Amino acid sequence: MGAETRASFGGRLVAILAAAGSAIGLGSIWRFPYVAGENGGAAFLLVYLLAIFVVGIPVMVAEFAVGRATKKNAVGGYRQLAKGWRWLGYSGIIAALFISGYYYIIAGWSLEYFVNSFGSLYNEGVDFRTQFGIFQTSWRPLLYMVIFVVLTHIIIVRGVQDGIEKASKVMMPMLFVILIFMAIWVAFMPGAGAGYEFFLKPDFAKAFSADTIFSAVGQAFFSLSVGMGCMVTYASYFDKKTNLVGTSFSVSLLTLVVAILAGLVIFPAVFSAGIAPSEGTSLVFVSLPEVFKGMPLPSLFSAIFFLLLALASLTSTISFHEVLTAYISEEFGMSRKWATTITSTLSVVLCVVAMYTAFDVSIPGYNGTMLSDLFDFITASVILPLGGLFTCLFVGWRMKPDFLRGELTNQGTIKSRLYHVLLFLMRYVSPLLIGYIFVSNFV
Ligand code: TRP
Repeated sequence: MGAETRASFGGRLVAILAAAGSAIGLGSIWRFPYVAGENGGAAFLLVYLLAIFVVGIPVMVAEFAVGRATKKNAVGGYRQLAKGWRWLGYSGIIAALFISGYYYIIAGWSLEYFVNSFGSLYNEGVDFRTQFGIFQTSWRPLLYMVIFVVLTHIIIVRGVQDGIEKASKVMMPMLFVILIFMAIWVAFMPGAGAGYEFFLKPDFAKAFSADTIFSAVGQAFFSLSVGMGCMVTYASYFDKKTNLVGTSFSVSLLTLVVAILAGLVIFPAVFSAGIAPSEGTSLVFVSLPEVFKGMPLPSLFSAIFFLLLALASLTSTISFHEVLTAYISEEFGMSRKWATTITSTLSVVLCVVAMYTAFDVSIPGYNGTMLSDLFDFITASVILPLGGLFTCLFVGWRMKPDFLRGELTNQGTIKSRLYHVLLFLMRYVSPLLIGYIFVSNFV
């Protein structure tokens, strides 16, 4: 697609909606609670909060700057600014492939739980963990994964603007409302108190352990959709009046609020139902039905929630699908339709392989059992943080300071009080911190 036919997001609000749509998804509602549950709850929350501000926001701002300045996909963007740095775009493409290789699987689970809310979920007479196990060993995860790729495909084919804007505008406010409602509801479940203690009272010794920092930084990157050029691609659709710093704060705060709300719903429920917080990837799917079970209309509330979760996931799958599609269509001069088809086909193939291949080896920081777990580890814990580190070095050191200043002030038309702070974080704090975490985990 040439520059003249390139779509763009309407105004300021739409830019926030689109980027927040990408950020808010399974990362905040499924991944955050289970990783927090495995890493001491409140200790994890504390480090996660710090990670958002110290590394997450600077990386997001840096990606926005690259994307909007170049109006290109991830690879094209870095290459236009500095030929020798195009590999940073490629590392994003590889990360997008790994995410595509498992995210659709979990998104499919939410879709299945939506459908099954009206099915046998609440009248089976067996506990929710057993039901989850039966579901896992059936053909349904495969079917729903494929359905999810097809849904994403359809939205991408129709073009960025329509799909993303419409989905985000309606879905996000509803998601907030239902999460708040659920958070209030669980407060009255017996034994909920232990959940608050677990999630809100940090054990500081644990918080600053290398393991917790390692997983919290990975989670910060994953939940903000940064470290792989996704925000480069999205910012390439921003107009020249979009306030990059403001947008990145809004997006990060919205994401943070959703993650905290998810924790405030899940942990009281987990403790009330006697589930282990370290349950793992199934945590949301075995604990939330316990909450709905006690409500007046379990099927209805459950269906609304899982539908919203599926929609929130859809605005995220769209975003990494778009990274691959924009790259293929722009770099190989292919029609969007073909680029979309290639991306969707690859995603299905990767997910099928990932969901049926065991991968149970010991790597520091990795504790999964399937190839899909490894895909998650490689993206969230390796490629995204490293991508973020180099993005900071790129904008902080390789580019002239005027580049960042120009983008943050919209070429001198608005003020940017945070320019110096952000530059400092990009130049020193984020790279050193990420570098340190890597060395302490792997060496
Ligand atoms: N942030 C999304 C979530 O939390 C996942 C996601 C979408 C993502 N696009 C991304 C993660 C790009 C990393 C990079 O569900």
